[in-house]
Amino acid sequence: MKSSLYETNLSSLSLLGRGKVRDIYDLGSDLLLIVATDRLSAFDVVFTQVIPGKGEILTKISNFWFNKMRDIVPNHLTHLRVADYLNVQSEYEELKDRSVVVKKLTPLPVEAVVRGYVAGSGWEDYSRTGSICGIILPENLSMAERFKSPIFTPSTKAKIGDHDENIPFQEVQNLIGIELADKVRSISIEIYEKAAKFALDRGIIIADTKMEFGLSSEGELILIDELLTPDSSRFWPLNSYEMGKSPESYDKQFIRDYLEKKAWDKSPPAPELPIQIVDKTLARYQSAYDHLVG
Ligand SMILES: Nc1ncnc2c1ncn2[C@@H]1O[C@H](COP(=O)(O)OP(=O)(O)O)[C@@H](O)[C@H]1O
Ligand SMILES: [Mg+2]
Repeated sequence: MKSSLYETNLSSLSLLGRGKVRDIYDLGSDLLLIVATDRLSAFDVVFTQVIPGKGEILTKISNFWFNKMRDIVPNHLTHLRVADYLNVQSEYEELKDRSVVVKKLTPLPVEAVVRGYVAGSGWEDYSRTGSICGIILPENLSMAERFKSPIFTPSTKAKIGDHDENIPFQEVQNLIGIELADKVRSISIEIYEKAAKFALDRGIIIADTKMEFGLSSEGELILIDELLTPDSSRFWPLNSYEMGKSPESYDKQFIRDYLEKKAWDKSPPAPELPIQIVDKTLARYQSAYDHLVG
C-alpha cells in the first residue's frame, strides 16, 4: 500500500503556505522546503480525496526534467539534502521522496504555457475565436491537431479558488517587461521542444505544458515549481493518438473527462470520486513515470 498524504504539519519548520498540491516551508536564508502532497485538483478545485503516492511521482518526474534542461535554463533545485532539514525521523521517512530543498525566488506573475497540439482551454478558445492568446491560427484545425510549430500561450497566475486565464503575449510584456517576456517565451519553447522530442521517442506525445519562472535577487531567470509532470502537462500515448478525437491520456484529463460527464458545476465542494477512478489515475501517473524516467 502506497503512503497517502493530504497535508503536512511539520513540527519544527514554519509553514509559508499551501498551494493546491504543494506545502511550502520557509527554511530561512533564502531556502524553501517544498513537499508535494497527494492532493488532487481539477478545474482549480482541490478534492478531499487523495491520489496516494502521486506527490512522490511528481517529485521524481520534475527532478528528472529539471536536470535534463539544465543547459537551457537554471532551476530552483539545490544540492542540499532534505535529511538536514527534516530533523524528526518519522517526518523524514514519510516525506523524503516527495520533498526538495529549493532556492526561494520571486515567482513571475504569469504561467508559461507552450502548446504543440490544440486541446483543453486552447481548443475552447480556438473554437470560439479562431485564435489562442491572440495568436491567429489556421482555419479548420481538428481537435488534438498538431500545430506547425509550438505556440506560447501564457496565462495569469490565479489566486487559490480562481481560474487561470489565457492572456495575449502583449500583456506578459506589460507585466514583466519586453525583454524578460521574450526570454521567457523562447526558453519555454526550447524546453517544450526538447522534452517533446524525448517523450515521443518513448511513445508519449506532450500536447502542452505549463512552466513557472522566478527571479533571483540578482535578477537571474530561474525555472521553479514543477516541470513537465502529468499535473502540469497533457501527455498522450502515441499509439492511440487520433486527430479529431480527445485522446486517452496519462494525465489529469482522465479525471476531467469523468467530471465532465457528471453534472458538477466545477465550483467547490468537489464531488466524491469512485475508487476505480482514483486507482486508474494513479496507474496513469505511474505509467507516465515508467515511460519517461523509468
Ligand atoms: N523556488 C520557488 N520560490 C518561490 N516560490 C515557489 C518556488 N517554487 C514554487 N513556488 C511556488 O510555490 C507554489 C507551489 O504550490 P502548488 O501546489 O504547485 O501551487 P499552485 O496551486 O499554484 O499550483 C506555487 O505558488 C509556486 O509559484
Ligand atoms: Mg503548481
